[in-house]
Amino acid sequence: MKAVILAGDFATRLRPLSCTRPKILFPIVNKPLLEWTLERLVKNNIREVIMAVNYQTEIAMKQHKVKKYGTHISYSHDPLRKPLGTGGPIKKAEKQIGRDATFLVLNGDIYADANYTEILKLHEEKGAVATIALHKVKDPSRYGVAELTEDNRIKRFIEKPPQKETPTNLINAGVYAFSPEIFEHIPEGRAVSMEREVFPKLADKGMLYGYVHEGLWMDIGKPEDYLEINKILLNSFFTQQKLKVKNGVEIKKPVFFDKVSLEEKSVIGPYTVLGQNVTVGRNVCIQNSVILPNTKISDFASIKGAIVGESVFIGKGAKISEGCILGDHTRIGDKVSLAKGILICPAKEVFESIQENRCII
Ligand code: GTP
Repeated sequence: MKAVILAGDFATRLRPLSCTRPKILFPIVNKPLLEWTLERLVKNNIREVIMAVNYQTEIAMKQHKVKKYGTHISYSHDPLRKPLGTGGPIKKAEKQIGRDATFLVLNGDIYADANYTEILKLHEEKGAVATIALHKVKDPSRYGVAELTEDNRIKRFIEKPPQKETPTNLINAGVYAFSPEIFEHIPEGRAVSMEREVFPKLADKGMLYGYVHEGLWMDIGKPEDYLEINKILLNSFFTQQKLKVKNGVEIKKPVFFDKVSLEEKSVIGPYTVLGQNVTVGRNVCIQNSVILPNTKISDFASIKGAIVGESVFIGKGAKISEGCILGDHTRIGDKVSLAKGILICPAKEVFESIQENRCII
């Protein structure tokens, strides 16, 4: 059984963190999103993985030395500067995928605790051309919405309908089973949107089925989503972790870290993840934040509700407020205060406080 992971977009809404890493390599409680997916594939006995990516993403994956969990990974590239959308990459990988068996396609930017085996089973039972995992959400208007019959057939599929016109709140969860026949429904040699061009037509022809996924599901599209998925996993998996810290460091659970250095009188948590080799000085306060590896936080600094990139330096007494995102290798001077929602591009040095909400390029 083969799985294709779609991971070729540029994650513009996650800048400046996505300037230096693709979305699939964003760490979620210190493990890249892609590794969570590969691990889940192996649990479902799927070991052949085709990454449908652009060249930058392939290079980043190799530099990061992604842990493969026993999968065999090959690549299929979009042409340079010509992204193929969500359907074009599937058609382009047709030879790699082969025409002899059903295969799985996953949106790489989604954390979904999906049971791939069950989805494939339903797909085979129904003799479908395509089966989509569907998930119930409060506001379906940001997504593709499906109308499902009692026998799991999707009657109608509408991509991002206006809020008042959403027929149901079952949305496309970005996990698909496809029969080889799908290749006949995807035009060749151009960008294709599965959601706008292919799924609505398959629904009209009665070839599209839906599997309702009840478990955890999160689209990592925006910084708030990224913080939220870290929070959810902290709540569900990591509350029992035993953390060894020096006397005088206060840990407010849930938090997660590994191989960090913490000085006395600092308060870490709640809802905080520290990457490997993060060093935290004395009297520091960090809450509701994710700090990527190798970052140094000096004495008396405070970080609340922020995402701090890799190898960042935060000076003494600096204050980083909610919604701030600091790109990799940025340097924040002593006593600098960043107001809510400030974005700092990678490798920038900031030595004066910033009060209004803006992006420092
Ligand atoms: P919005 O509709 O902008 O909110 O994006 P989305 O989160 O719905 O994702 P989108 O439909 O753009 O992408 C779904 C999946 O396909 C993601 O995992 C993307 O990385 C991937 N993807 C999107 N565009 C391309 C592309 O041009 N090439 C490749 N190879 N993958 C893509």
